[in-house]
Amino acid sequence: MNKLIVHPGGALCGSVPIGGAKNAALPILAACLLCDGPSLIGNLPDIRDVRIALRILGGMGVEMERIDAHTYRIDPTHAAPPAVADPLTGSMRASAYFLGACLGKFGEGCIGTIGGCDFGGRPIDQHVKAFAALGATVSLSEQEIHVRGTRLRGAKICFDTVSVGATVNAILAAVLTEGESVLHMAASEPHIADLAAFLNRAGADIRGAGTATIRIRGVRHLRGCTYAVVPDMIEAGTYLLAGAATRGAVRVRGVHPGHLRALLEKLRESGADVDCTDTDITVFGISPLHGVEVTTHPYPGFPTDLQPQMTAYLCTTEGGSRVQENIWQHRFRYATELQNMGAAIALSDSVATVRGTSLHGAEMTVPDLRAGAALLIAACAAEGESVLHDPWWLERGYENYVEKFRQIGADIREQSD
Ligand code: EPU
Repeated sequence: MNKLIVHPGGALCGSVPIGGAKNAALPILAACLLCDGPSLIGNLPDIRDVRIALRILGGMGVEMERIDAHTYRIDPTHAAPPAVADPLTGSMRASAYFLGACLGKFGEGCIGTIGGCDFGGRPIDQHVKAFAALGATVSLSEQEIHVRGTRLRGAKICFDTVSVGATVNAILAAVLTEGESVLHMAASEPHIADLAAFLNRAGADIRGAGTATIRIRGVRHLRGCTYAVVPDMIEAGTYLLAGAATRGAVRVRGVHPGHLRALLEKLRESGADVDCTDTDITVFGISPLHGVEVTTHPYPGFPTDLQPQMTAYLCTTEGGSRVQENIWQHRFRYATELQNMGAAIALSDSVATVRGTSLHGAEMTVPDLRAGAALLIAACAAEGESVLHDPWWLERGYENYVEKFRQIGADIREQSD
């Protein structure tokens, strides 16, 4: 599929089942490598990035059996010491997790260049800092990243910035390392807590995951275990924002509402009604809805991975909004596409000032994963036909999204050039 044709479908209404979180599934798949026996991982989202992670594992000799679309048995018993996995590693950021996992498992890891969405610089100095603190040496070239350390020891690691990826890599490298490691200023996202919960079920001793201080007492072995990946808060938030932007009523099913507190507060502040049960959230986008101020922060702050979708929603509300991006310098690359739809967005450094207006359909090119979700939301809320080129970006993180959007009333057609 090369493009999506979107026509106004009115208010999006209905319910959407939410799958497992991409950003939890990817570290858990890498962590399977650390176990001595097979693990049965359920609630894996059937998305492009997960398929890439499975192929990287396969390339390392890990045996995999597909039980169903969302469940795999992953057996690393015959995994061989790592080989450079490029060009696969170049297609997603989470490839970096195979460095930490291979270091923990084999005392050595080597991967090709790491890819992912382009938000300007995506440094890995904090990953390197964690590996070095544990006693490993890291060599970086343009083609590959090599980490080696056969006599690792637990260590105190004080991160200089909150990094999801560096926290994951530190956990993966430390969990089988002798002694205690303490991570300060660790990321506290639900996907970090989910990784730790998987590892603890496999026999690890990790405390404090989900807070800024994580203590890891190294264990000798991890056994495989059965585990289900946490629901995807970003997928859920995307459908809620689609409902609000089109003045519809959308329920997301099978979620942890507490993980979305920052988004739900902003939706309510903008005038939307939000109802929660233990596992479901429903948003009612009843007019008039008005602009709000949003600033992205690490969890539990407003997630950067919902910033583009939130901005698309705010383009449809009355009055002014201000959206400040604190995590990724270049995460407003979709703004020019929204401007082509008539959106009134002014950019200054890391701040978008938005004035609500009516959107019209336009021809757009998707620049990255969450931007793609934002443009799709805007296209559903606009008058007239929109064409989205390069929609494959969405397949990296949203399972079956065309069908799910159609289920709530969107008029979307896939077309090949
Ligand atoms: N940073 C450093 N040095 C490092 C690592 C990060 O300075 O060594 C900085 C980054 O430049 C950025 C901030 O720290 O300003 C946060 O980066 P982080 O390491 O947390 O991001 P990441 O691990 O590369 C993950 C998600 C992203 C999400 C960010 C922030 C995965 C696979 N990716 O990336 O998700 O935006 O955390 O929450 O978990 C997405 O799903 O669309 C996505 C981009």
